[in-house]
Amino acid sequence: MIKRITIFCYIKFLFILEGCIIEGIELLMILVDDMKINDYEKIKDSLQEEYDEFWTPNILRSELENNNSKYIVAKENTKIVGFAGILITPDDVQITNIVTKKSERKKGIGNLLLDKIIKMAKNTNKNSISLEVNEKNLIAINLYKKFGFKKIGSRKKYYNGIDDAIIMSKVLK
Ligand SMILES: CC(C)(COP(=O)(O)OP(=O)(O)OC[C@H]1O[C@@H](n2cnc3c(N)ncnc32)[C@H](O)[C@@H]1OP(=O)(O)O)[C@@H](O)C(=O)NCCC(=O)NCCS
Repeated sequence: MIKRITIFCYIKFLFILEGCIIEGIELLMILVDDMKINDYEKIKDSLQEEYDEFWTPNILRSELENNNSKYIVAKENTKIVGFAGILITPDDVQITNIVTKKSERKKGIGNLLLDKIIKMAKNTNKNSISLEVNEKNLIAINLYKKFGFKKIGSRKKYYNGIDDAIIMSKVLK
């Protein structure tokens, strides 16, 4: 079977403002592949500090062991810079999380991960892909809107008994 991986190039131009001289070019090569157990081992101890405070190693581990879940990782060389996952339910595909390493945000990695999981979701033959996001998480909401997700509902005080969850969905077919 031919294994597909996605390679993404991010080119960052650094300017010296005085005189607008190009100081250097940073070429970021990002590869997206299925998350393996050794990827999990590499990030499990730094999940909350470097990725997202909502993730614990046990949750991620059980997601990886769930036959209805699929997880992907974004890597720069061997360094993991983000990951994302979906859960395939009888009704639709749900995004369980998408997260970029804190030090690597705003470089296009979230775009790349979401694009990939939408493609994976299309291969499941489900009609839609959905997610829940904190109403205050405007960065993630922007990302989802950019890919055509629309608000279809909300769950009151879903996060910490305070913040509402917004339910967003996108038709896959
Ligand atoms: C949401 C998240 C994955 C975005 O990752 P990222 O790698 O920084 O995203 P990208 O650089 O690819 O940006 C993708 C889009 O996100 C939105 N975005 C990213 N950073 C933003 C910011 N600081 N302000 C507003 N919108 C922003 C924009 O729509 C952006 O599109 P653009 O590049 O065309 O402007 C990242 O912020 C993250 O890991 N957050 C914590 C985990 C989380 O909240 N996940 C969502 C759970 S529902």
